[in-house]
Amino acid sequence: MSSAAYPGLEGRTVVVTGAGGGQGAAEARLLADAGARVVATDVSDAAPAQLAGIEYRRLDVTDESAWAALATWLAEERAGEPLRGLVNNAGITHRTRLGETSREDWDRVIAVNLTGPMLGMQALAPLMADGSSIVNIGSSAGLNAHYPVAYTTSKWGLRGLSHVAATELGRRGIRVNLVHPGFIETPMTAEAPEAMREAQLALTPLERLGAAEEVARIVAFLLSDASSYLTGAEIPVDGGATSSAGAKLMSDRIAGR
Ligand SMILES: NC(=O)c1ccc[n+]([C@@H]2O[C@H](COP(=O)([O-])OP(=O)(O)OC[C@H]3O[C@@H](n4cnc5c(N)ncnc54)[C@H](O)[C@@H]3O)[C@@H](O)[C@H]2O)c1
Repeated sequence: MSSAAYPGLEGRTVVVTGAGGGQGAAEARLLADAGARVVATDVSDAAPAQLAGIEYRRLDVTDESAWAALATWLAEERAGEPLRGLVNNAGITHRTRLGETSREDWDRVIAVNLTGPMLGMQALAPLMADGSSIVNIGSSAGLNAHYPVAYTTSKWGLRGLSHVAATELGRRGIRVNLVHPGFIETPMTAEAPEAMREAQLALTPLERLGAAEEVARIVAFLLSDASSYLTGAEIPVDGGATSSAGAKLMSDRIAGR
């Protein structure tokens, strides 16, 4: 991967959460290929095989003390080399509806998907230099009324958090942007109901599901200097589904397709 595609990334230290699989692993690999010094993190003790050659540390994003330990390690081990990027990618889903979601499941999803990125930004933004970039991974569920209530609510909340962070950190030259993946083929969606997959295709102008690498390329763009005047933005990477907002389905029905 030529670093020209993602200017400025070469040699920069970037932390990626939930990098053990799916989109996070694709992001860690692409960023490393672009020359970034990636610190990949996830909940397993051992580094996942697909992160071979990439530095790995255990980090549960809901654990405040783990974030503090990561910040200390970065400050001590990487002295003189400021942190330049954070990808709050870790996330879990729980596909239950409003009437059937337990308080425990609600709290778990909010803790990982919403509190995790908040703790991450609190812990690591102080280490960041002017020109740094934070990318939060939302979801098209944060732009519509996707039925899994805790997941959808957590991603809508992440939008508010990201806009506050972009406003607050802008004066230090730190950018904060949000990426909203649509239906991406990863372990998270492998167990999704077949009807969800079919409905997604019917709602998606590009008429296909997405690949993790297609999200990773947008994340790398947002971490690089190619997006140096972009902050507080929300970028759907969903084949046009949220833009179309159901109109494709109606249009196809009317056309008899
Ligand atoms: N796959 C999709 O269609 C899709 C769509 C929209 C948004 N997203 C979002 O993209 C991100 C990545 O999802 P994915 O599809 O790669 O999912 P995935 O399940 O394949 O990977 C998620 C990773 O997060 C890790 N993780 C879970 N809980 C954690 C915790 N407490 N601390 C640290 N790591 C933790 C998991 O171990 C896993 O490696 C998530 O935020 C997800 O909500 C995914």
